[in-house]
Amino acid sequence: MKKYLFVILLSLSLPTQAITLDDLYKRYSPEGESAFDAERGKQLWNQKHTAEDGKIRQCSTCHGNDLSKSGEHVKTKKVIDPMARSVNAERFTKMKKIKKWFKRNCKWTVGRECTNQEKGDLIKYLTQF
Ligand code: HEC
Repeated sequence: MKKYLFVILLSLSLPTQAITLDDLYKRYSPEGESAFDAERGKQLWNQKHTAEDGKIRQCSTCHGNDLSKSGEHVKTKKVIDPMARSVNAERFTKMKKIKKWFKRNCKWTVGRECTNQEKGDLIKYLTQF
C-alpha cells in the first residue's frame, strides 16, 4: 500500500505529468468548472477578427471547421492534429503546451491574450468533442 502511495505521489510531482480537466478549470477559476460556459467558448472559437492586413482570422483558420479532423497552419502549411479529444487524447493534458498555445494563438487571432474566463470557456467547449 505504502509503495503505491509513493508511486502516485511521485507521478503527481513530475512536471510532465498529464493534468486533469478539473485541475485546468481550477487553474482558471477558484470555482472550477461551474465558472465556465461552453456556449461562450463556442462563440469565441467561431468569432471573426479582422487583422491589420484586412484578412479575417479565427481559430478555425488553422484548426479547421471539423474538430475531429486535422487542421493546417495558415502560414507554414504544417498539419495540426485534431482538437477533439475523442480522436486525440493528448489534447488538454499538458499545461506547458496549453499555456504556450493559448498565448500565441489568442494574440494572433484575437489580437490580445485571452482572459482566464475565456480560456476556461474555450476548454469547456472544445472538450465536448
Ligand atoms: C495561425 C494558426 C493557428 C490559429 C489561428 C489558432 N491556432 Fe491553436 N494551435 C496552432 C498550432 C500550430 C498548435 C500546436 C500544434 C498542435 O497542438 O497540434 C495549436 C495548438 C493549440 C492548443 C493546444 C491544445 C493542446 O492541449 O494540445 C490550444 C488550446 C489552441 N491551439 C487554441 C487555439 C484557439 C483558442 C484559437 C483561436 C483563438 C487558436 N488556437 C487559433 C495554430 C493555430
